[in-house]
Amino acid sequence: PIRIKKICCIGAGYVGGPTSAVIASKNPDIQVTVVDYNRERIEAWQTDDLPIYEPGLLDVVRAARDAKSKRTPNLFFSTDVDRCIAEADLILLSVNTPTKSLGRGAGHASELSYLESAVRKIGEVAESNKIIVEKSTVPCRAADTLRDVLAATAKPGIHFEILSNPEFLAEGTAIPNLLNPDRILIGSLKTPRGLQAAQALADVYGAWVDHDRIITINLYSSELAKLAANALLAQRISSVNALSAMCESVGADIDEVSYAIGLDKRIGSRMLKASVGFGGSCFRKDILSLAYIAESLHLFEVADYWRSIVEINEYQKDRFTRRIVRCLYNSLSGKTLAVWGFAYKKDTGDTRETAAISVVDNVLTEGANVRIYDPLVKETQIRQELKSTTSRLGCAEKQLVVCDSAYEACTGADAVIILTEWDEFSNRSEVVRRDSGHGKKTKARSERKVDWARAAEVMRRPMFVFDGRNIVDAGALEELGFRVECIGKA
Ligand code: NAI
Repeated sequence: PIRIKKICCIGAGYVGGPTSAVIASKNPDIQVTVVDYNRERIEAWQTDDLPIYEPGLLDVVRAARDAKSKRTPNLFFSTDVDRCIAEADLILLSVNTPTKSLGRGAGHASELSYLESAVRKIGEVAESNKIIVEKSTVPCRAADTLRDVLAATAKPGIHFEILSNPEFLAEGTAIPNLLNPDRILIGSLKTPRGLQAAQALADVYGAWVDHDRIITINLYSSELAKLAANALLAQRISSVNALSAMCESVGADIDEVSYAIGLDKRIGSRMLKASVGFGGSCFRKDILSLAYIAESLHLFEVADYWRSIVEINEYQKDRFTRRIVRCLYNSLSGKTLAVWGFAYKKDTGDTRETAAISVVDNVLTEGANVRIYDPLVKETQIRQELKSTTSRLGCAEKQLVVCDSAYEACTGADAVIILTEWDEFSNRSEVVRRDSGHGKKTKARSERKVDWARAAEVMRRPMFVFDGRNIVDAGALEELGFRVECIGKA
């Protein structure tokens, strides 16, 4: 059997950082180094002001990274990519695989150039056998591409074994997800060397994950399973969002419908919350990638099926903005909107593909003044995100103010638009949420709650609330004089 002593993780992002930190904290005998070309990111990982926010992450990082009396550090961050690759027995590829923006497949296919360049580097600098693990989400048969690049770049006599080990963590709950995963998927070739490499990786996870949760399967099944899992999760959201449009017309309540559906054990209650639409860096890109693969296999109906999940999501965001315009008497010109929340979901500072981008872009185009508040996301990031993705910001810069509090955002506003389900925005006395994976209910952070009566004092009449996450108790807000519009409720 192979015993792993040194791991190098290429890519110090949302996946590479937390995953490496957990592996290091659970395997004190393995040295784990996370490398990235992005110097700023690597430097931030070496401080207590980490480059990404995840509840519980800093504690795990500090436990493995910082010298303590009884434990030598075994988690490192470096920009010395070549050296760390050369020293490692096992390499985790955690680089980004965004949607292609140029050429054939632009807007649909996955961009594999970051992965390819990482693997070229491995081929160039490796002096010993390596196990290479695809942690990034990749199209089916990406492993063949990587093998081909290695065959052409590596020194003779060195063996590379490629594994697929997709990551299933969800941002906002990455640490509990990593500590207590539903399953660990390891895909390998069914050759003796492939199986031996899979076992070596399984042993790394075996330090804290029960063996019956570590599943070893065929390499290509594993690659496809990750895309399929994201497609099915997003499919649930789009299905509920499609139903929410019907609810608004027939006088049904989507929260009640979701609750009723979710009680069926075959369906289950999670990922059935209606909203303004899903965001994040993964769902859209992975579904489009899946659809592109189907299309390249001439399975056009299958491609259309997957793509419709993304189309409903776009429709839901548009529908939400149309409702805002309609309620505000068909014109946003000269009106002020307080936008609460910009992150794509709570407990993360990630704004990639957040629904807020489309909604803010749309209301700016309608001439609204927009005042944004998010508890975690900084002004520079909000402006950058809008600038790079929206049509209007160049000329609408003056229409946009980023605020330090929910109240400041409400000053002179005609409406509050809730776009992220941060606990502090809810007016329910106790926010109860299902904890990730364990099914038990826990009381959420509720120390800092918005005082809606105080917000009302600084707003213009009539005051509207557009709840894009269905987190408010509409009745209580109506008593304060708000007119409340929720998703999937008439
Ligand atoms: P990210 O963009 O946060 O991090 C990727 C990092 O890789 C960047 O810091 C970049 O500088 C670095 N990088 C790119 N090419 C490099 C190279 N050749 N050498 C060294 N560093 C390089 O991306 P994130 O979110 O961590 O995602 C990584 C992969 O994991 C993607 O394939 C994604 O689909 C997948 N994934 C992401 C999840 C998430 O919640 N963010 C969850 C599950 C999978």
